[in-house]
This record gives sequence, structure tokens and C-alpha cells, in this order.
Amino acid sequence: EKGGYDTFMEKEIFDQPHAVGDTLLGRTDEAGHLVLDELRISEEQLKNVDRITVVACGTAAYAGMVAKYAIEHWTRIPVEVSLAHEFRYSDPIVNERSLVVSISQSGETMDTLMAVKHARELGALTISVCNTHGSTIPRESDAVLYTHAGPEIAVASTKAFLAQITACYVLGLYLSQLRGGTFADDAQAVMKELHEVPAKIEELLGTMGRVQEIARFMADTRSVLFLGRNVGFPIAMEGALKLKELAYIHAEGFAAGELKHGPIALIEPGQPVFVVVPGPDTPHELHKKVVSNIQEIRARGARTIVIAQEGDEDVVPFADEVIRVPRTSPLLQPLLTVVPLQMFALHLSTAKGLDVDQPRNLAKSVTVE
Ligand code: BG6
Repeated sequence: EKGGYDTFMEKEIFDQPHAVGDTLLGRTDEAGHLVLDELRISEEQLKNVDRITVVACGTAAYAGMVAKYAIEHWTRIPVEVSLAHEFRYSDPIVNERSLVVSISQSGETMDTLMAVKHARELGALTISVCNTHGSTIPRESDAVLYTHAGPEIAVASTKAFLAQITACYVLGLYLSQLRGGTFADDAQAVMKELHEVPAKIEELLGTMGRVQEIARFMADTRSVLFLGRNVGFPIAMEGALKLKELAYIHAEGFAAGELKHGPIALIEPGQPVFVVVPGPDTPHELHKKVVSNIQEIRARGARTIVIAQEGDEDVVPFADEVIRVPRTSPLLQPLLTVVPLQMFALHLSTAKGLDVDQPRNLAKSVTVE
């Protein structure tokens, strides 16, 4: 049932082109317009939404953080991301005009379920982004947008994460189309580009040999840092989470802009740092800013492992290792940049002889608060 792979996690990483492709399937009409009748929420109700709160835990919460950048850009609706357990026990600003989007692979995470119930009590419209048919969270929500990643067995989430990001993009583009704002016309173009992503993931998966070697050399490493900006920031945190979960290594993800406000003090000679580099066409000169962040840490002795787009030569002088990802537009990059980080954690865990699919102290779905 592992389909020839050593672990479920590896199989699931290689399933990712399908997870993304299947989640896109059937969500557009022939003209390329988004159609989400499955939501069974009236267009009026959705048009009325003036704020979105995403509630989730762990990897699913990082999918929500990626979604925030995209949905805000496409719809101009403010999006907040709350860890479900923090949302539940706070005094959130949520009312009849709020849309609360929960994200959960299992649909059974108690923290997320309680957040959804709380949101409904406050009068919000609730949509569940979920991978498991018939599970509790979709049942307790007004609507569900299923991710079609297929069953995920390994405790550490991989293909469900990509499917969650994809489903959130679909939702964001749909809302944008519905509201007819300045971006609405571009929604079809983004969908077209999204449809090209599975083949790019496939291509990327064929080039992971060097990542495996790097992981093997790093089996004794005690701490790894991850940096990113914009949508690369949640990816940095996801890279760190994967390493904690799978290899029991202390790891932290930072927003690269935050470096000089503290984390740069951690840099000493030999410290490994992964940097998720935005494509050169990313707005606000973010590419240039991240390249100078790499330069800053390299000057202090960091060992820089840089994830950069094909053709990006600016990173080369400051990178000890460059891992290439295929080109795509800035907001879609997380679907590619996270893949080498998943692979790195998988291979480091394997190099340390650990149980990849069942890491210590963790459960696939946590059904207690
Ligand atoms: C954690 C799992 O306990 O729950 C993570 O170890 C997962 O991998 C998180 O991201 C949330 O789970 P779910 O099922 O709600 O997406």
C-alpha cells in the first residue's frame, strides 16, 4: 500500500501533483469561470462578507497564512489567521458579516471544531476546507470545500497541505469573481496557471537527489533556521515544523525582515539556514531584499541553503547550496518551494534512523482539546 515507497510520507510527497490537480478538478466551467455550487451558500450571503478569519492548527494554519496573502490580494477582504485554540478562548471580532474558514485534513481536530462552533455562536458563516468526507468539522459547518488529496496516513502533513493551499486559492478566486473587483478579470488567468502547477511539482520531484545528500550530511545538526518573506514566510515556518516533527531538531522559521530585530544574533559560523527566495518578479523588490538577507547571514558565517527559481542567478554568490524550483507567479510559489523542505525533513529523519510516519509523541488527529 506504500506503492513501492519506503514510507507513507514519501509516497504522499510524490502524490502531490495529484493532490493539487484533483483539488482543482471540477471547479471551473468550460469558459474557465469558477463554479462552486457545492458550497450551497447564496451569492448574496458571500457578497456580504466583510472579513475572513481562518482557524486551524499546525500545518493547516500555515496553509491559512499562505491563503491570507493571496485572498487579500485578490479580494481586498481583510483576512486574519488564528490558531483555533487561541481563537476559541479569546474575544474575536466575528459577526454575521464574517466568514470563518476552518482548515483541517482530518476534520476531527478538537481545537478546530471548537473554534468553528464558537464562530457559529457568534453568527458567522462557516466554511470548512477539509480532506475527509463525512468527518465532524464539515458537518458542523455551513458549507464545505473538500480538498482531494486522498487519504493521508503519515502523521506529518504534506499532500494535504498543498491541497489546502489550492482549495483556499480556489475560494479566494471565486470570491474575487463574485465581487467583481478590479482583480476579477484575472481570476481565470490565475486558474490557468494553477492548472500548470502539478506538472511543475512533478518536474521538481525529479530533482531532489541533492536535497537527500544535504540531509545525509546534516544528520548531527542541532539547530536549523528557515527564512522567508511574504508567502515564503509561512513556508519557512512549515519547513521548521516538519524538521521538529520528523527529525526532533530544534528549528525555527522567521520572516526574513525580522532578522535584524533579533534572530540574526543566533547566526554563528556553520549555522545552517534555509532561505525561501521569492521570484525576481515579486512586487516590492522583495527578491532583492531577500538576496541581501542571504548576504547578511552569509557574512556572519551561516551555511546558506537557498531555494530559488530557475534562472535566478542573483542568489548564487551568497549560496552554499542552491535548490532550484520551476518558475511560477509569486503567490503560487508556496506550492513548489515547500517541496524541498518536506524532502529535507524526510531524509534527515531517515538518516537519523527515526520513524518517519509515526514520530514520537504525535498523533495524526488530535481529538482532545
Ligand atoms: C497535528 C498534526 O496534530 O494536527 C499536524 O500532527 C496537523 O500534522 C495538525 O497539521 C492539524 O490537523 P488537521 O487534521 O486538523 O489538519
